[in-house]
Amino acid sequence: MTKPFEPMIIGFTCNWCSYRAADLAGTSRKKYPPNIRLVRMMCSGRLDPVFVLEAFSGGADGVMITGCHPGECHYIEQNFKALRRVLLLKRTIEPLGINPQRLKLVWASASEGNLFAKEVETFIGEVRDLGPLNWQKRAMRNDLRLVESLPEEVPV
Ligand code: FES
Repeated sequence: MTKPFEPMIIGFTCNWCSYRAADLAGTSRKKYPPNIRLVRMMCSGRLDPVFVLEAFSGGADGVMITGCHPGECHYIEQNFKALRRVLLLKRTIEPLGINPQRLKLVWASASEGNLFAKEVETFIGEVRDLGPLNWQKRAMRNDLRLVESLPEEVPV
């Protein structure tokens, strides 16, 4: 009997708000599935798009980015940079074979432990419905197909 699919989610959290919201969810014993691995950053504006691509190529089925609410970023407006990067990433990953729904941005303040737990649970459910990504395996298979379709000698 095969085990049901359990997605692996990487969560990039801001130190000042959403990481503390996750902490609050834990200390208030709010339960959410253990499928998410949190990576703490000083601000969501620190998010390098490469982090997201590396998470997917490393086996993540979904990536969640969380930050302070607009207007509440400790580094003034860096979370707007995160928003722009997420929108750009959603457009970039689709042609790479990754459903943009596998990437989510959530605003959560330090006092919103309940919201954080709810958003994580919802996202895990959405990714579970999408099924496993296996992006690296699929990319390798596509490379092989491409190599097999090439003529014996490629004119230079
Ligand atoms: Fe939280 Fe910038 S300090 S998003």
